[in-house]
Amino acid sequence: MKKGENEKIEIELLLQAILLKYGYDFRTYAKSSLKRRIMRRLSLSGIKTISEMQHRVLNDVNFFETLLLDFSINVTQMFRDPFFYKALREDIVPALRNQPAIKVWHAGCATGEEVYSMAILLKEEGLYNKSRIYATDFNEKVLKISKEGIYPIDRIKDYTRNYIQSGGRSSFADYYRARYDFVKMDSSLRKNVVFADHNLVTDSVFGEMDLIVCRNVLIYFNRELQNRVFKLFFDSLSDEGFLCLGSKETVKYSDLSDDFKAIAKGQRIYRKENHQTSKARIRDKKTQVKDEV
Ligand SMILES: C[S@@+](CC[C@H](N)C(=O)[O-])C[C@H]1O[C@@H](n2cnc3c(N)ncnc32)[C@H](O)[C@@H]1O
Repeated sequence: MKKGENEKIEIELLLQAILLKYGYDFRTYAKSSLKRRIMRRLSLSGIKTISEMQHRVLNDVNFFETLLLDFSINVTQMFRDPFFYKALREDIVPALRNQPAIKVWHAGCATGEEVYSMAILLKEEGLYNKSRIYATDFNEKVLKISKEGIYPIDRIKDYTRNYIQSGGRSSFADYYRARYDFVKMDSSLRKNVVFADHNLVTDSVFGEMDLIVCRNVLIYFNRELQNRVFKLFFDSLSDEGFLCLGSKETVKYSDLSDDFKAIAKGQRIYRKENHQTSKARIRDKKTQVKDEV
């Protein structure tokens, strides 16, 4: 048997061990990315083989938590991809404006920067008071940072630039207080946010959302898991609700490609297509035409 085949089996066994011992299921994550993370952790921790790593994972919860952080990749930014936020302001906010209440779900929110970005945007558009934001991730460590809203001060220069490019209407400095090497986001931005543990692999539908933001999460999933998550989002969205993905993610080749319509040029923003409503609309139109004739 070739080395590559053994390695594949060892990785399967490692993932199986993690599932049985800790309940986290990584078996449907993209294998190439997982393998990179495993190899990196092998060389950093001086462990010689993946089988040895499996033994360590089973017997050392701290090591498992390190591996969980490796697997979940928590890189994020405030107003990441500023033109996405610009498109949100210009193309989505007008549709949300007339709603009596707005429900937003950030799935895979990592350390929360995109949640605070959304809160700022909604505040500036005069919509925050009627909004409720659900910020979820399956990693408790990053959720804790989200809740605290404390970030290293050396990131603020980039975040301020992003904020300005995104069409921010105020001064970014209005939204945080600096203390030594950190900034703390204004507590008013957290007022309408609920932080919760939610695993996209195993947990279920999340309310009647008007807007779901799940950016830079699905790239780590294989096609099967992506389809599951798209179905979960479809079921969690209100009629004609919006789904926002990262710049490298798309619903185009998924099982639900007909159920979402791309609506913002150059951005991965989709509107849920309700075929029942669309059919009814066509039927109404036909009846109307008949009546007119
Ligand atoms: C690269 S970060 C993206 C953060 C943010 N959405 C952004 O675009 O900047 C990916 C996040 O997805 C989370 N994640 C990965 N698998 C998940 C799962 N099965 N359920 C919930 N969150 C998951 C990770 O913990 C991580 O915080």
